[in-house]
Amino acid sequence: MRSFPEISILFEQYLKTDLPFPGHQERLYEPCRYLLDAGGKRVRPALCLMAAELFGGINPDAYHAAMAVELFHNFTLIHDDIMDKAPLRRGKPTVHARYGLTAGILSGDVMGIFAYDCLGKIRPEHLQKVFRIFNKTAIEVCEGQQWDMDFEEQEEVSIDEYLKMIELKTSVLLAASLQIGAIVAGAPDEDAQHLYEFGKNMGIAFQLQDDYLDTFGAEDKIGKKPGGDIRANKKTFLTLKTREIAGALPVMEALMQKEEEEKVNGVRQLYLDFNIDEHSKNVINQYAEYSFAHLDKISLPGERKEPLRQLAAWLLNRQY
Ligand code: IPE
Ligand code: IPE
Ligand code: MG
Ligand code: MG
Ligand code: MG
Repeated sequence: MRSFPEISILFEQYLKTDLPFPGHQERLYEPCRYLLDAGGKRVRPALCLMAAELFGGINPDAYHAAMAVELFHNFTLIHDDIMDKAPLRRGKPTVHARYGLTAGILSGDVMGIFAYDCLGKIRPEHLQKVFRIFNKTAIEVCEGQQWDMDFEEQEEVSIDEYLKMIELKTSVLLAASLQIGAIVAGAPDEDAQHLYEFGKNMGIAFQLQDDYLDTFGAEDKIGKKPGGDIRANKKTFLTLKTREIAGALPVMEALMQKEEEEKVNGVRQLYLDFNIDEHSKNVINQYAEYSFAHLDKISLPGERKEPLRQLAAWLLNRQY
């Protein structure tokens, strides 16, 4: 079993040579290449390939699926940045900021369609099962994103509602990447399901860390403009836990009315005053435990699963 860095290199080479976009209509495809060239961790395709390697080897279907999940992810990022009004992604201007709204919408759309095109290359014996999982996941991502946006305006949001929202918008795609990789390599259904649950719990912790980094991360590391969630009035674990501990804080209400930096700095300090960063770490560790319990149940020797365990542990402590 190879490690995440080794598998990432493998996928990066494949991405360079096998990107499916045609040579014409550069106005449409240049923004797609621009975002993909800007990098990213490639977590989802790596999970897909690592799952395949766990159960018999990385075959061409695993590569098709890995490309599909990375393209789908990048499509959601382009549209997410429009919805979140984000100026930076992967250390560069976002697609809509650089190329305009039309390019953002259309390039995102076409990238999503190419994701399906890649998926369609999978051998017929696995195709139906894979499509069913992929479609279910794609629908859930949309549902999660809708909730994320609704919660900006919604006064009362519970921590359970937030956790359900991040499960849908983020964690199911990480989970499905693992499950699909396992399926195309011929894994038993039960093991593929445990991998899915491993990914789902890890994915919840992954989004909790994303939310933490949005407020406490450094711009040169995260490649995004910190404080975006506070500016957009996102309901994150950080907001909701503060509310749970401190109730309706007049000082918080007052900060919400302030402009840009004063608001971001004030809310960030408030989180620190209530040790919300610690609370966030605790929940992340809790979900890491849930996820490892599922990894343990997979019917393979522990050392074969070690690279996945290490990847999960790294993701939940990452600084970018
Ligand atoms: C960002 O995902 C969007 C979330 C679901 C949190 P990643 O953190 O995997 O982004 P890249 O692909 O590495 O840039
Ligand atoms: C994004 O969540 C989830 C999807 C793209 C589906 P965020 O909005 O928190 O992701 P970032 O922080 O912009 O990467
Ligand atoms: Mg966003
Ligand atoms: Mg968002
Ligand atoms: Mg975020």
